[in-house]
Amino acid sequence: MSDITQLENELLAAIASAKDEAGLEAVRVAALGKSGSVSALLKTLGAMTPDERKVQGPAINGLKERVGAAIATAKDALGSSALDARLNSETVDVTLPVREAPTETGRVHPISQVTDELTAIFADMGFAVAEGPDIETDDYNFTKLNFPEGHPAREMHDTFYFPQKPDGSRLLLRTHTSPVQVRTMLTQTPPIRVIIPGRTYRSDSDQTHTPMFHQVEGLVIDKGSHLGHLKWILEEFCKAFFEVDQVKMRFRPSFFPFTEPSLEVDIQCRRDKGEIRFGEGEDWLEILGCGMVHPNVLKNCGLDPAEYRGFAWGMGIDRIAMLKYGMNDLRAFFEADVRWLAHYGFRPLDFPTLAGGLSS
Ligand code: DAH
Repeated sequence: MSDITQLENELLAAIASAKDEAGLEAVRVAALGKSGSVSALLKTLGAMTPDERKVQGPAINGLKERVGAAIATAKDALGSSALDARLNSETVDVTLPVREAPTETGRVHPISQVTDELTAIFADMGFAVAEGPDIETDDYNFTKLNFPEGHPAREMHDTFYFPQKPDGSRLLLRTHTSPVQVRTMLTQTPPIRVIIPGRTYRSDSDQTHTPMFHQVEGLVIDKGSHLGHLKWILEEFCKAFFEVDQVKMRFRPSFFPFTEPSLEVDIQCRRDKGEIRFGEGEDWLEILGCGMVHPNVLKNCGLDPAEYRGFAWGMGIDRIAMLKYGMNDLRAFFEADVRWLAHYGFRPLDFPTLAGGLSS
């Protein structure tokens, strides 16, 4: 057997036994690559006599072509069997249910939803949002709001205090959002129109109280502000928030150190088998406290009571959320139970707007 025939047999056997495309490529390089065996044979042609070349030339070139063709055929075969193998292993079960995207399965907590809803309503009336820290000074939480030292109203707040500092002062977890009224008046010049949603803290826990809860405060300071403005704002807010055409409200005299006069507001409702309907019925439900900002508070915040007047209100966000969406245990709000959130939560892409609907 000639060398050429023997080499051809060896190469064809190697091609036939290549298991995958990488193995076949190795055979191709070993035969037809720059220093491959067939290329080496081709290089010998240059040193041959013309007569030898006439015989060997077609023989070696024939070998090169046949090996090349065999590699091409094997490559095709390996390629399609690799595809077959992939198709066999990568099955798609078209009967499986479609999995929802995270934007579909995630839920917005009712507190965040209600905060967004009331922000949308007050923004439409020209209110900006103001914020303050959860950890407050006694001065901002009480003293500047006209709670004198030792005044019994301080005791009503069940305050969480931090340890006393060497100078005798102590920080606290704010018991209401009202200290942000002080912060706003100290840093902004009237006219002021802000709402202040945020977390508040009191040492209290039962079905309708949790140690951490949420309030939204409102504050308006201007030259001619009066109770009529306050009543209109609160009425418009309640209609928009509870999504009803009519609300009947009742203003009762009350007491807060930082307002004079002070009022508590009830809205008319009907209780129907555990459900509450607004805009009808004979029952009354308290929803907020409000009043004209006390002249002492204006003075404490650097404003002249002879020039400016203001009104303010404070409302429990958790409470109005429970009323609007029929949730009866406040503690569940903060238990982080995904089943509760899946039931009471809101779809993340349905952002509340007055135009597009608040809670649809
Ligand atoms: N800060 C009061 C509270 O937590 C609520 C409140 C009442 C706020 C009257 C006000 C207001 O701004 O005018 O009990």
